[in-house]
Amino acid sequence: MGIKIEGEEGAERLKRVKVSAPGKIILSGEHAVVYGYPAILSAVDRRLSIELSIKKGDLEVLTQHSSTEHAEYGIKRVVKEIGGGTSGIKAEIYSQIPVGSGMGSSAALAVALTAALFKLRGQPWDLERINQVAYEIEKKQHGKPSGGDNTIVTYGGFLEFKKNADGSPNFSHISTEEHLSGLFVVNSGRPEETTREMVSMVGQLYENDKKRVGDIFEKIGQITFIFSRYLRGEGDIDVTELIRENQRLLERLGVVSPSAQNIVGEIEKIGGAAKISGAGGRKSGSGIILAYHKDPQKLLSLAKEMSLDIFSVKLGEEGVRWEKR
Ligand code: PMV
Repeated sequence: MGIKIEGEEGAERLKRVKVSAPGKIILSGEHAVVYGYPAILSAVDRRLSIELSIKKGDLEVLTQHSSTEHAEYGIKRVVKEIGGGTSGIKAEIYSQIPVGSGMGSSAALAVALTAALFKLRGQPWDLERINQVAYEIEKKQHGKPSGGDNTIVTYGGFLEFKKNADGSPNFSHISTEEHLSGLFVVNSGRPEETTREMVSMVGQLYENDKKRVGDIFEKIGQITFIFSRYLRGEGDIDVTELIRENQRLLERLGVVSPSAQNIVGEIEKIGGAAKISGAGGRKSGSGIILAYHKDPQKLLSLAKEMSLDIFSVKLGEEGVRWEKR
């Protein structure tokens, strides 16, 4: 517990607060989720931490993780919600989540800084409200995000998520014994395009051909439905085929670069499956790729041969948490 001091408005405040939030992967449903189809997301064991303390002078943000402006915007946005000013706050941000690569680094920042400020300013630890405010910060960064990223980062675990027509989140926890032990993450490189650009590009594609692109979203929605059954241990489901089909559909949306397609092709050749996870990218990297093989050793040997940046992640990790010391 930090030392409590009396704040300007008479509310009790903590003097120093540390909060961490997880990164995430999207197992199924990216892009289609923006149009109201379901997605399955999991929190992973790479985290971002933010430490807020009270000092004299103006707001100060120290970060090597994201742009200082984005973090400052986030802090101002939270303060707008809960009242008070931003002066006298020092924020230090540390992160293990690769930036701009589909692993939820911006959502982790938005959620962690919202929760930390709530704590510092004596607001209740209300996940629903934290998620709502973090979504507002995400909108500034990404335009029209589905809200899936901030929701998984807030609540953790595995979620089946849908955006309601009014933009509010609709989600349920998936309790699963299937933690996909043969699943790895390959970093295909940070995309040149931002999530905002990729989402707007897919939006343009949809405007140009609602029938064809709507059909792709529909098929992605069906894959997500089957994936959810797989995670729940229902039915005899070929997850390799499911991931391959999802990737084909993402390629048809034009969100996978040639170099990322090449990595996926090589993984398929050795009997595995892979798909991009997140918004993707067209020109150079497409961010992270989820790679799956029943025999993980085969995947690791291929990664060595191709000098891929591969790592394993633990899924179903805890959401945002107060790091009490
Ligand atoms: O690349 P990320 O981590 O920002 O994920 C984006 C996921 C999309 O479905 C493409 C957009 C969204 O808002 O859900």
